[in-house]
Amino acid sequence: MNAAIRGVGKALQGYYGMQLIGFRQGFRGLMENRTMRLDGNALSGILTIGGTILGTSRDKPHRMTVGERVLDMTDVIVNNYEKQQLDALVCLGGNGTQKNALRLAEQGLNIITLPKTIDNDVAMTDVSFGFDTALGIATEGIDRLHSTAHSHHRIIVVEVMGHRVGWLALGAGIAGGADVTLIPEIPYDVEAVAGTIRKRVRQGKNFSIVAVAEGAMTKEQDRALGAVKLEKKNAEDKEAKKKAKVKLAALKTQYAGNTLRLARQLEQLTRLEARVTILGYVQRGGTPSAADRLLATRLGTAAADLIHQGEYGVMVAALGDGIGPVPLQEVAGKLKTVPLDHPWLESLRRVSPGRVGLG
Ligand code: F6P
Repeated sequence: MNAAIRGVGKALQGYYGMQLIGFRQGFRGLMENRTMRLDGNALSGILTIGGTILGTSRDKPHRMTVGERVLDMTDVIVNNYEKQQLDALVCLGGNGTQKNALRLAEQGLNIITLPKTIDNDVAMTDVSFGFDTALGIATEGIDRLHSTAHSHHRIIVVEVMGHRVGWLALGAGIAGGADVTLIPEIPYDVEAVAGTIRKRVRQGKNFSIVAVAEGAMTKEQDRALGAVKLEKKNAEDKEAKKKAKVKLAALKTQYAGNTLRLARQLEQLTRLEARVTILGYVQRGGTPSAADRLLATRLGTAAADLIHQGEYGVMVAALGDGIGPVPLQEVAGKLKTVPLDHPWLESLRRVSPGRVGLG
């Protein structure tokens, strides 16, 4: 994020002679009008620092917790935008940010967004910044777990971030040579995973690494979730919708323990010892990779070009070798999942047949 902020700022100020201010903690800072000077000094020395000098939050303009209440603060945000006499607002973030940014664009604000998420699930861009760094960390995690796995003859179930999509788990599974890779897009069968591990044992391989996305689920869980989602969609009245919502939340809470559950089941089914490693927030921190710094700088400077040209209501996307604006309407509310015929999946199927998804 800092590399992107720096890219936007240096291009705007140094190249186009415009001014830049930052809002602290995302939409919350915009609502509270809490700003930060982003002059040359503030932008110096931040390229290699992970996170964001501005701070961030998961607040949504139209549903913000203010004291005890949850309120629609869109008008306050629009008002602050006007008070600050802004020409444009650049929003950096994942799918939530894209949706909220579109809402603000619909209120008449000049918005440009940048795709930032380690999940890589923002639609209409080949890649989002943050992904490459996280991929490197998750892969290194898997590399390091091999030592314990093969020395102790254990199964290591390693949970990789990705609550709705499997890009990170799939990428790290391939790059780290995981023996089984499980992603949300392909619901799995525990018995089939155990079967693959048992087959490896018969081949003399007494350890296995299972890379699992945090949102991966079994076929039964996927069916149950699908049924409740349908129930919610078809609910005829408020009461029925509320009931379905409660059921949905309960299922999600239950599935949150999937990685530990999977390890226990594999232990029982294979009689090998299993251990769990949850890579968690380690994947989201530290020094950003060169590829991420490069991408964030390219996207950030392209955002400055668009501001100079007065082109708004778009996300700056990475498209092939180039960079280009995509209308926010085509991005917001969409999720870029791993297509079942994606080349990464095909390639994984070639190097380890039957070891991906196992649906
Ligand atoms: O959106 C990226 C992500 O890293 C997901 O993979 C993960 O589920 C989520 O963020 C968790 O983030 P937090 O706990 O900060 O809300």
